[in-house]
Amino acid sequence: MTLAIHGGAPVRTEPWPAWPPPLDDAQRELVTRVLESGLWGATQGGSVVTDLVAAFARRSGVPYGVAVGNATLGLFAALRGLGVGRGDEVIVPAYTFVASATAVLLAGATPVIVDVDPYDLHLSAEAAGRAVTGATAAVMPVHLAGSPADMGPLNALAARHGLAVVEDAAQAHGAAYQGRPVGGLGDAGVYSFQSSKAMTAGEGGLIVCRTEEAYREIWSVCNVGRSLGGAWYGHPRTGWNLRLTELQAALLLPWLDRLDAEIDAREAFCAALERELAAVPGRPVTVVPPPSGTTRDSRHLLMLRVSPEVDRAFLLAATEAEGVPLDAGYPPLGTMAALTADGARAEPCPAAEEAARTVVWVRQPMLMAGAEAAAQIAEALAKVLT
Ligand SMILES: Cc1ncc(COP(=O)(O)O)c(C=O)c1O
Repeated sequence: MTLAIHGGAPVRTEPWPAWPPPLDDAQRELVTRVLESGLWGATQGGSVVTDLVAAFARRSGVPYGVAVGNATLGLFAALRGLGVGRGDEVIVPAYTFVASATAVLLAGATPVIVDVDPYDLHLSAEAAGRAVTGATAAVMPVHLAGSPADMGPLNALAARHGLAVVEDAAQAHGAAYQGRPVGGLGDAGVYSFQSSKAMTAGEGGLIVCRTEEAYREIWSVCNVGRSLGGAWYGHPRTGWNLRLTELQAALLLPWLDRLDAEIDAREAFCAALERELAAVPGRPVTVVPPPSGTTRDSRHLLMLRVSPEVDRAFLLAATEAEGVPLDAGYPPLGTMAALTADGARAEPCPAAEEAARTVVWVRQPMLMAGAEAAAQIAEALAKVLT
């Protein structure tokens, strides 16, 4: 038997749930139907992408949507469709996946990296307000870890300065803020279906938006610059083929029927883990809370804060040896030389830097493992830290 770093048997030896979960019957049936139809591409007349877009728009509380190849391209297309491009600045949070910023670069604009709220680690409206200049054209709140960004103050800031709001909802399918679904809270919202996400087709993305004007522009960006209903070889704008396939949509459409049940399971896991952690002597680990206004946290990840004195590299190695692999999370975007070399500007971001030193993540598949596994995570942390 392999001994854990702190001696004795590892807390957990059984494997964690796989992601994605096994296909369900509805997915198998729809994928087979699409496969056998030969209508695999998005322009061959199949209906599954259309149905998926309609379902996501409905769930997001908006009338329009466009499915795309991934969320990076979705963020790019949303920005470009909303008129953001060369010479413009876009405010992004410092504690997020790098694609939030690279999508801005792809649009030809400048990512302005600003700090997050030290409490919930989402984009701080105050820090965003300090970063607004005459060139600011948009703000990109990220619904990090499945928790909605605090959209009230961010939307108010955007309204004050005439900024577009593009929600990065890549991690937040099914989340809600003040009772309203994410994605429909700004001018456009973008979901990801990349392989680690709550719903996945291996890759994929989907943009939702509120106005017909934005929809027409975003659709055109994603459809080689055509106009909706216009000529096949008419390209009044510059655009690209950014489309999702019918086969990908066939994996995703049936998933929507079980999304809420899966969020409920992760929510129960997180509640159990939080209870267990509260019982560890000295409470060395706490759960990073969701922003105020969160009414549905989709629990893509659970972020845990450990005290700054803890050697985090040791913690990660020791918990892994206990059969509990945790994740170190993001480096702050402002520390990524490649981004600044490409023109990104970083404001001081002490809260993101602190998070990069003190926060560890429990990844989504682990959150599907049931209450007993939650107790094992707390036990491994207690064993390593107390
Ligand atoms: C916050 C965030 N934004 C954007 C993306 C980019 O999504 P994709 O991989 O679909 O391009 C991801 C995940 O990959 C993400 O986590």
